[in-house]
Amino acid sequence: MEDIKDSNENSCTRNILVILGFSCVISVIVLIAVGISQNKPLPQNVKYGIVLDAGSSHTSLYIYSWPSEKENDTGIVQQIEECQVAGPGISKYAQKLQEIGDYLAECMEKTRDVIPVSKHHETPVYLGATAGMRLLRMESEQLADRVIDAVIRTLSTYPFNFQGATIITGQEEGAYGWITINYLLGSFFQNSGWFSGISEKMNHEKTFGALDLGGASTQITFVPENHTMESPENSLQFRLYGKDYYVYTHSFLCYGKDQALWQKLAKDIQVSSDRSLRDPCFHTGYKKVVNVSDLYKTPCTKKFKRTLPFDEFQIQGTGNYEQCQQSILELFNTGDCPYSQCAFNGIYLPPIQGNFEAFSAFYFVMNFFNLTSEKVSQEEAIRKIRNFCSQPWNEVST
Ligand SMILES: *[C@@H]1O[C@H](CO)[C@@H](O)[C@H](O)[C@H]1NC(C)=O
Ligand SMILES: *[C@@H]1O[C@H](CO)[C@@H](O)[C@H](O)[C@H]1NC(C)=O
Ligand SMILES: *[C@@H]1O[C@H](CO)[C@@H](O)[C@H](O)[C@H]1NC(C)=O
Ligand SMILES: *[C@@H]1O[C@H](CO)[C@@H](O)[C@H](O)[C@H]1NC(C)=O
Repeated sequence: MEDIKDSNENSCTRNILVILGFSCVISVIVLIAVGISQNKPLPQNVKYGIVLDAGSSHTSLYIYSWPSEKENDTGIVQQIEECQVAGPGISKYAQKLQEIGDYLAECMEKTRDVIPVSKHHETPVYLGATAGMRLLRMESEQLADRVIDAVIRTLSTYPFNFQGATIITGQEEGAYGWITINYLLGSFFQNSGWFSGISEKMNHEKTFGALDLGGASTQITFVPENHTMESPENSLQFRLYGKDYYVYTHSFLCYGKDQALWQKLAKDIQVSSDRSLRDPCFHTGYKKVVNVSDLYKTPCTKKFKRTLPFDEFQIQGTGNYEQCQQSILELFNTGDCPYSQCAFNGIYLPPIQGNFEAFSAFYFVMNFFNLTSEKVSQEEAIRKIRNFCSQPWNEVST
């Protein structure tokens, strides 16, 4: 733990952490792949692609376009439309499969209007599901398969070129996030003259590390100094735009913000003798009833499970930043490490290297606090969040 603490402290002062808002993590790589494979000249000028990002808490649809004859040998992918699917993530439809068609219909119909009819049949559609579906698959493989089958049936009814609906692995999720931010920041096109405004400011040899916070998992991905990794499952290698990249990645399942909260509640109610739980992570005056069977339904709370003498309990907020932070830290086991250095829970982490970009829920939360500017110091951010946590719920909720 001391090692990690030290290297983190060093890297906080040495490196820049940028909080980035951008839409789709999984999309760009799919389209880079498409773009690269389109080598034969095509009569049409523009091609389209549709990607559905099926996250644990919601699904987003993105429409991309790119020139079919790649400009200067590399495809430029542009996002031309975004549609947020109303409702929760697809894993919540396990018990109501017949509703998946209606769930996806609004965004898919919009897509019909945006993409010219003549291009429909050649436009690829791809859906990638992340940790929400990985958790459902842990609960029941059959249920997860049924959800994916229902999605496949629905997407196949549209006139587009359906390419598949899959649960992507944590490694893929980490890799796609890393590729996406480095694509958007121009790291791969250092000599091409594109993105020249950005390129001038950055060190040309360097890529950015990626920090991605989802609802059910969180990913860290970066190029470490030493290409030889102590644990092969954290090692990725790929070739992009003529260059080889050796990348470290890990996806921490159950450490997305929603599942981390379930973990914390299960941990705290484990030692409570009462059916009311005083919780420093909620504002004073906040009350919420938690259903015990919902709490224990997710595989993430398994290690904290015990038989409780009640079916539901009530959270009562006490709004204390320090106590909340302490309680959250207990979810990170920094004790046992079979490698020279670990992140937590015995997961290998090589020495932190380079600058990082944080996105997804890191962005949404920091954006809520108006703290996304690079000029904001860590002290200022903590002060603002601490102050927010101490406000009573009746003030905050208005
Ligand atoms: C492609 O190359 C040409 C000639 O070098 C240049 O004029 C044009 O701006 C380039 N396109 C892009 C998108 O950079
Ligand atoms: C890189 O890591 C490998 C395996 O841990 C180790 O044997 C090697 O000495 C390291 N190289 C450098 C330059 O640190
Ligand atoms: C808790 O939720 C389950 C289904 O998720 C439901 O069957 C049960 O009645 C609920 N229990 C209470 C006490 O509300
Ligand atoms: C963020 O800024 C907006 C606009 O200035 C303001 O309305 C909002 O209250 C700010 N939010 C926080 C949490 O400070």
